[in-house]
Amino acid sequence: MLKGFALEISLDGKVALVTGAGPNIGSGIALALAKYGANVACNDLNFDAAKAAVRRIERNGGTALALSGDVSVEEDVTSNIGEVLGAWGRIDIVINNAAWLHTNHILEEDLASFNRAITIAVNGNFLYTKYAALSMIERGIKGSIVSILSSNAWQGAAGFIAYATHKGALANFVRAAAMDLAPYGIRVNSFTPTAPRPDNPELLAQWRAEGRTELRPRQPKPDRPAWWRETGTYDVRGQIPMGEPATPTDIGHCIAWLSSDYARLITGCDFVIDGGARAKYWAYTPAPGAAGPVPLIPLDITEVEGLSPASPAPSFTSSEPSASPEASFTSPEASFTSPESSSEPSSASSEPSSASPESSPAPSSASPAPSSSSPEASNG
Ligand SMILES: NC(=O)c1ccc[n+]([C@@H]2O[C@H](COP(=O)([O-])OP(=O)(O)OC[C@H]3O[C@@H](n4cnc5c(N)ncnc54)[C@H](O)[C@@H]3O)[C@@H](O)[C@H]2O)c1
Repeated sequence: MLKGFALEISLDGKVALVTGAGPNIGSGIALALAKYGANVACNDLNFDAAKAAVRRIERNGGTALALSGDVSVEEDVTSNIGEVLGAWGRIDIVINNAAWLHTNHILEEDLASFNRAITIAVNGNFLYTKYAALSMIERGIKGSIVSILSSNAWQGAAGFIAYATHKGALANFVRAAAMDLAPYGIRVNSFTPTAPRPDNPELLAQWRAEGRTELRPRQPKPDRPAWWRETGTYDVRGQIPMGEPATPTDIGHCIAWLSSDYARLITGCDFVIDGGARAKYWAYTPAPGAAGPVPLIPLDITEVEGLSPASPAPSFTSSEPSASPEASFTSPEASFTSPESSSEPSSASSEPSSASPESSPAPSSASPAPSSSSPEASNG
């Protein structure tokens, strides 16, 4: 056995395309793929968000390209793919991440919003997978395609009717696409984020500048009939056996490896980084005081003005109030506002999507990075 020899996961020479590369999960995945060596194209309906993801990659030494386009519109998808092929001649990796994080109760959902949410997710995954796979087949590339799902793909949560519908559909889209593309050596898998804690330093700095202290700005409840029955609440922190939520950086490490040639025979599978939450027996509530995992290996070394580089995830100790009221969320998704407040993504907005109401939870305004002493900052 060789001593001192270690394998390196490298995506050198590969080209990746991430859809919906907004400042939370998409940007985190895009940065990871770049740090592992890929050239990364960042698509978003909001071009400013795509450009911000590119700037983040470039600040960190990577190579990236911003793309503007709606993943549910065929001409936008073929034009985006053409732009990447024109720039770099190939596509090896596609991350179908774009989604409208729209939430609503079935009794309050309207058909237009229901259809729009489903169209973005389902069309986007279909079109990007189809056209990227064609480009791979034409060039003999045995690539990797990953769809970003949600816990709502696998379990029911109140207030998520459209979201649960399209995320659940995508869980089987992945298996079916994996079968169609297996003869070409192209792999199709999914990743299921579970309310990750945002860790993009720029996004956290923006929230601090905005003075956001709430996880999600709450909207007033609509007027409801006398017969309306309230649904339950969510407790993210208290349901994680290892005691700590994942971050987009954790997701990026996993997806980079999954997109590497080391994973050459993995297809039709789902991946999750959740400290054991999904494996947990439904009636079991972990005791507080978990030792926590080993520290996060950070990927963003950026010095944003007034902000220290991305710090490792906090390690929760037994003194951590894992079941504090602040750690109880009204939504299982970090990036969701209350079901009443979700709004359609807009390409017209000049604001990066981080400023939209469906953005992720605000960290504590008192500390530059989420810290273990601010439970409201540590989950999503
Ligand atoms: N945040 C969470 O806690 C969480 C949990 C589970 C799953 N997810 C999934 O992870 C992915 C990313 O989530 P996020 O928290 O970063 O959300 P986000 O809203 O911050 O980012 C989504 C991005 O997609 C873009 N987008 C929306 N519609 C688009 C379209 N038609 N074409 C192109 N781009 C479009 C938005 O502009 C935005 O930048 C989504 O698929 C989401 O469903 C998120």
